[in-house]
Amino acid sequence: MVGSKSMGFNTRAVKMGECRDSRYGNVTTPIFENSTFLGPNPDSHAMRDNTSGKPFLYTRWGNPTLQFMEEKYAALEGAERSISFSSGMSAISAAVLSVSGKGSRIISVSDLYGQTYLFFKNTLERFGIHADMIPLDRLNDLDQLPEGTSAVYTESVVNPTMGISDLARIGKLCTASGVPLIVDATFCSPYNQTPLDFGASIVVHSATKYISGHTDVIFGLAATSERFYRGLVDMRKTFGFVPDPIQTFLAARGIKTLGLRMMQHNRNAMELARLLSEERKVASVFYPGLTGFRYHPIAKRVLRGYGGMLSFEFEGGEKAARKFMSLLKIPEVAPSLGGVESLITLPIDTTHASLTSEERKSIGISDGLIRFSAGIEDTQDLVEDFKSALSSI
Ligand SMILES: Cc1ncc(COP(=O)(O)O)c(C=O)c1O
Repeated sequence: MVGSKSMGFNTRAVKMGECRDSRYGNVTTPIFENSTFLGPNPDSHAMRDNTSGKPFLYTRWGNPTLQFMEEKYAALEGAERSISFSSGMSAISAAVLSVSGKGSRIISVSDLYGQTYLFFKNTLERFGIHADMIPLDRLNDLDQLPEGTSAVYTESVVNPTMGISDLARIGKLCTASGVPLIVDATFCSPYNQTPLDFGASIVVHSATKYISGHTDVIFGLAATSERFYRGLVDMRKTFGFVPDPIQTFLAARGIKTLGLRMMQHNRNAMELARLLSEERKVASVFYPGLTGFRYHPIAKRVLRGYGGMLSFEFEGGEKAARKFMSLLKIPEVAPSLGGVESLITLPIDTTHASLTSEERKSIGISDGLIRFSAGIEDTQDLVEDFKSALSSI
């Protein structure tokens, strides 16, 4: 059964959702680089497209390479249904639009990924869909949803300050009120968190990051129940948010090793967070696994692993941060995350460059804040690299 969690994570990642055809004896799913398929298909045994319940006809609707990837990913989320997208942003747009209409009022958080924030504040607002962007702590403390709330949208772990959504609480609140909860769990990957377990209606991923894992594709995924699936299918088909089968093949190849990679991402980030937290030149470290971190009690409740992302600031501010980054030998200076290679960035240069200094400060981003995406390099090598750079600043 596709959604079964009876097998371990890695077994599901390898075994589920593979198109094996004994006529060819292929072991892995082929790339069906087809725009169209026979229509009508005269073969009464022809495979069905999940999106239509009929034989495959046109790739904007559905495609076998995509469908097998979706079944594999659904098995990892423990979901009834899943659907792939051309990017994380198209998964997010489709998810939000599928539960919204003119006059909808969405509750979300102010610390969202920048492009998602702009989608709520600029794009949706123009079409009469309003989003209240409240601080993450306020969302975590809500006892009830404001009258007329049509959906709640949040991120499992927010970027780059590593605040954590208390999904155990928010999920209960949304379930009790019958309000759909959409969660972007990109920073966790399904290895560290499966938001549907907390009552989320739809979980979305920028699969560009951990799920694909090799910094070579742009890809999105959503997992959900039967109830919300149809709305997502409609959005993908209408807006043409469908991914290309070659990109899908790469994402499917990546997801097979997600569990193994996440173990190493989690380990590397934890070791480096510990090292930094013991260093007097470091003013603060933001990492869910550190017992002294403000969100650690929530992290313990909602995460299975603390993740590969961490942020930190030096006593010497931006100048020290730039010096430190220039001294590191292993990480590349680049803005994305979740790949096999460690990446390091200053949010003021990249992810949050379009915000004013005041806006950044209001969400806790100082000019010297460093964001680090731990790769899967050997822990000891990263620790030595960090120690050496720390000793020279
Ligand atoms: C948390 C989060 N959500 C969504 C996205 C958007 O994903 P994509 O670039 O795959 O469209 C990103 C991209 O960085 C992200 O960090």
